[in-house]
Amino acid sequence: MAKMEVKTSLLDNMIGVGDMVLLEPLNEETFINNLKKRFDHNEIYTYIGSVVVSVNPYRSLPIYSPEKVEDYRNRNFYELSPHIFALSDEAYRSLRDQDKDQCILITGESGAGKTEASKLVMSYVAAVCGKGAEVNQVKEQLLQSNPVLEAFGNAKTVRNDNSSRFGKYMDIEFDFKGDPLGGVISNYLLEKSRVVKQPRGERNFHVFYQLLSGASEELLNKLKLERDFSRYNYLSLDSAKVNGVDDAANFRTVRNAMQIVGFMDHEAESVLEVVAAVLKLGNIEFKPESRVNGLDESKIKDKNELKEICELTGIDQSVLERAFSFRTVEAKQEKVSTTLNVAQAYYARDALAKNLYSRLFSWLVNRINESIKAQTKVRKKVMGVLDIYGFEIFEDNSFEQFIINYCNEKLQQIFIELTLKEEQEEYIREDIEWTHIDYFNNAIICDLIENNTNGILAMLDEECLRPGTVTDETFLEKLNQVCATHQHFESRMSKCSRFLNDTSLPHSCFRIQHYAGKVLYQVEGFVDKNNDLLYRDLSQAMWKAGHTLIKSLFPEGNPAKINLKRPPTAGSQFKASVATLMKNLQTKNPNYIRCIKPNDKKAAHIFNEALVCHQIRYLGLLENVRVRRAGYAFRQAYEPCLERYKMLCKQTWPHWKGPARAGVEVLFNELEIPVEEYSFGRSKIFIRNPRTLFKLEDLRKQRLEDLATLIQKIYRGWKCRTHFLLMRKSQIVIAAWYRRYAQQKRYQQIKSSALVIQSYIRGWKARKILRELKHQKRCEEAATTIAAYWHGTQVRREYRKFFRANAGKKIYEFTIQRIVQKYFLEMKNKMPSLSPIDKNWPSRPYLFLDSTHKELKRIFHLWRCKKYRDQFTDQKKLIYEEKLEASELFKDKKALYPSSVGQPFQGAYLEINKNPKYKKLKDAIEEKIIIAEVVNKINRANGKSTSRIFLLTNNNLLLADQKSGQIKSEVPLVDVTKVSMSSQNDGFFAIHLKEQGSEAASKGDFLFSSEHLIEMATKLYRTTLSQTKQKLNIEISDEFLVQFRQDKVCVKFIQGNQKNGSVPTCKRKNNRLLEVAVP
Ligand SMILES: Nc1ncnc2c1ncn2[C@@H]1O[C@H](COP(=O)(O)OP(=O)(O)OP(=O)(O)O)[C@@H](O)[C@H]1O
Ligand SMILES: [Mg+2]
Repeated sequence: MAKMEVKTSLLDNMIGVGDMVLLEPLNEETFINNLKKRFDHNEIYTYIGSVVVSVNPYRSLPIYSPEKVEDYRNRNFYELSPHIFALSDEAYRSLRDQDKDQCILITGESGAGKTEASKLVMSYVAAVCGKGAEVNQVKEQLLQSNPVLEAFGNAKTVRNDNSSRFGKYMDIEFDFKGDPLGGVISNYLLEKSRVVKQPRGERNFHVFYQLLSGASEELLNKLKLERDFSRYNYLSLDSAKVNGVDDAANFRTVRNAMQIVGFMDHEAESVLEVVAAVLKLGNIEFKPESRVNGLDESKIKDKNELKEICELTGIDQSVLERAFSFRTVEAKQEKVSTTLNVAQAYYARDALAKNLYSRLFSWLVNRINESIKAQTKVRKKVMGVLDIYGFEIFEDNSFEQFIINYCNEKLQQIFIELTLKEEQEEYIREDIEWTHIDYFNNAIICDLIENNTNGILAMLDEECLRPGTVTDETFLEKLNQVCATHQHFESRMSKCSRFLNDTSLPHSCFRIQHYAGKVLYQVEGFVDKNNDLLYRDLSQAMWKAGHTLIKSLFPEGNPAKINLKRPPTAGSQFKASVATLMKNLQTKNPNYIRCIKPNDKKAAHIFNEALVCHQIRYLGLLENVRVRRAGYAFRQAYEPCLERYKMLCKQTWPHWKGPARAGVEVLFNELEIPVEEYSFGRSKIFIRNPRTLFKLEDLRKQRLEDLATLIQKIYRGWKCRTHFLLMRKSQIVIAAWYRRYAQQKRYQQIKSSALVIQSYIRGWKARKILRELKHQKRCEEAATTIAAYWHGTQVRREYRKFFRANAGKKIYEFTIQRIVQKYFLEMKNKMPSLSPIDKNWPSRPYLFLDSTHKELKRIFHLWRCKKYRDQFTDQKKLIYEEKLEASELFKDKKALYPSSVGQPFQGAYLEINKNPKYKKLKDAIEEKIIIAEVVNKINRANGKSTSRIFLLTNNNLLLADQKSGQIKSEVPLVDVTKVSMSSQNDGFFAIHLKEQGSEAASKGDFLFSSEHLIEMATKLYRTTLSQTKQKLNIEISDEFLVQFRQDKVCVKFIQGNQKNGSVPTCKRKNNRLLEVAVP
């Protein structure tokens, strides 16, 4: 799909008027108000016809983006709101498509934005022209020449932080396709006085500060420089730092730009060496020294700086030193050397610094030109961009202002000439009758300045070349004579005050009434500045430098080419270069950018009306509008005109079939526009008065509103109807869906209701049948039961007589039998374990089985005990019998008993048979030994104990010495009457004997203590029983009597205290008491 092109016009969305030509009424006030209104709305550009007026916004606006470039690309000049891009586009297309060389003339006062404007034009052209590696390199070189020239040619002034201190004209060359090929730069009048002195609040050229801030230590050392600005007399210190400017970073940018532009490393270094030399020149100081002839001679104060300069530049120190002290004048083969006084020496030093710097600058321009020069010989199309200082009116205006204003005067002239010429050409082209235009022609002022015979510049030159004393005053006198009658020249002695001094004018001043206003010039310095003298000794010294760049800067110093003719003066040089420039411009199609500075504060948003008014006046902008409006104020091609206004007439709206011109004719007739208000050209309609155009615009606006209403009306109607149709369609769809849904729901309901009813009915029917069937069944059962009972009754009635008598007993027996049977069967399953100590026994099920149950338990226990005993051997049985006997004798009677239960009864603890020691003892005993053990026999007299072997045989009890085995006593068992012991946990026991018995008994009863008391007592009892058939009396008591010989002694057991240890102790207390302490 083809892109829809939106036709717009400058007249759309206008803030104020975009083109001053349309301003109504036209006067200074409306002009300024219009500019201000637009400036307040960020519209910094306004047209005067094809001239762009630009007001410096002092802040970055978002109107230079790549999108903006695209917007303005290939659009008609008046199509979009005024913009510098529109002018650039027009110029570029005209150059490319119509093969017309262009020049863009940018004027305005310092800080008005000329340099920025020139860069914007260049960047726009670079953005829209052809692309490709080679083309891009050319573009890059052209663009990068700016930072280099700005570093060397711009400085901070009170008016502008980046003020161009030189005029610049750059020709950009294109091939037939519009691709850039290269360029040529011309520079005009660098303000070289700045090198040695800067006004308060201003700086020297940027490069000095950039070098000192941005160079590496190594480079500084090489250049013999120090980073400290205050070391250099030529650098003003009060404003060495500029806000928002990073000198160090800019230095890198400049070095980089130099590289891109094509400077070789050694060239860039040479340039910096010259810069360093200029800086250091400022530090050379002189002192007076009297000479014999009474004249003052100057001497260099400190030669160190001079030495370093000479090292840096390769000049012989003595040569340079001499050049600072002497001046040689050569005239017709005569050489006269005069000494310089201190003032002259300083003059010479500064002149050298200024010359060195300005020549370096020119060399830089030439060097850049060499790089950006087009590489082909084919014919080129050219676009020139002129960024030149605008008109300057200061409080003190000097030679520089004079020259600058002269240049502007020339530019104004060419502007008038070209504008008129263009206007005239257009009229001829369009076949419109030419009407005379009244305007102020400033040729007369140009003539006052540049006339070869009596122009001011010619007078100045004449004065400079004249022999004899020449001063600024003599020059003014001359002017007073020659120019007195000129109507644009005034001085204290000029025509209107020939007989009466004009006291409004100060002395030593003259005033020129420039096209842009009156300017008062101080004559002081005119002669000097015009002469621009550099003593020949210095230029010769420079030529002798080893530094090739410096040498090449001073060709006149070459003695071989000595030229006694004076070099051309600054004024005549400038005049010549301006003339060349004008010639150059005249061959090109001019495009104007008029820059205006809105305030003196470099601040955004401030619009100082007085300041702007002043600029508008001297830029002659109102004049400009008047010239433009002199004939016809507005013109437009037929097609866009018809397109814009066709809605105002029925025949042309909405479509006009015929040619556009006829359409416009019909349109204008219909609108009844007076015939004198317009003319028909070949391709354009010319409207004489802006009023007519505004009337058309008003009508169009009104009509557009009507049309908009109509469109709105139709659109609203269409929208409502569409909406209604959509609603209706939706409603039908919704209704259909709803009906369907409702029917579905109803059907579901009916269906489920039918099912419920059905199921109820079926249920009811089934229940009814079931009830009937159940009733039938019960009836049948009842009949059967009745029948059975009936039969039963009958049978019982019949048989009763046979079994009624013993039925009860039988039933009882049977029941009992069944119960007992069941009891036994259950008991069988519930039997406890066979362990004799198991106490479990099932509970009794019936009370009447109680005795049976107990009996059964007893029998079972006896049986399982027997079963247990059956497992024993005879020997074991014997042991158990003994243990049983012991239990019967001592259980619960003697505290020692429980500890003996676990001890197996061994009897023969002493193995007499085996021990040879007891051989005699063994031989003496023939019977079986039942006990052989060592016991403690208690001494009857003192209660102390002695070990004795205690032997029990079937019939006797023997005591023998433990060591020798010799029998000490022998008691037959029949003599033993009783055994006594305590109930406590001790091993003491007494063996009571018959009083008249054996021999042993004569000493009385025995008292022993043994570890195996229970075993011994038991065995003694058993043996006695088996031998004598009598039960041995065993008395257990804590107090008993024993017979010791004749005495009856009471053995008393008491609870001993623990300190005696765990062994019971025995003590004979007196004749009657023997006390045993049991722990
Ligand atoms: N279009 C712009 N947009 C934003 N800022 C601008 C514009 N034009 C100018 N300026 C600001 O104004 C300052 C001065 O502009 P510029 O250096 O172009 O002035 P000039 O007319 O060249 O002055 P001089 O005659 O002293 O060289 C710029 O440094 C910039 O800050
Ligand atoms: Mg500038």
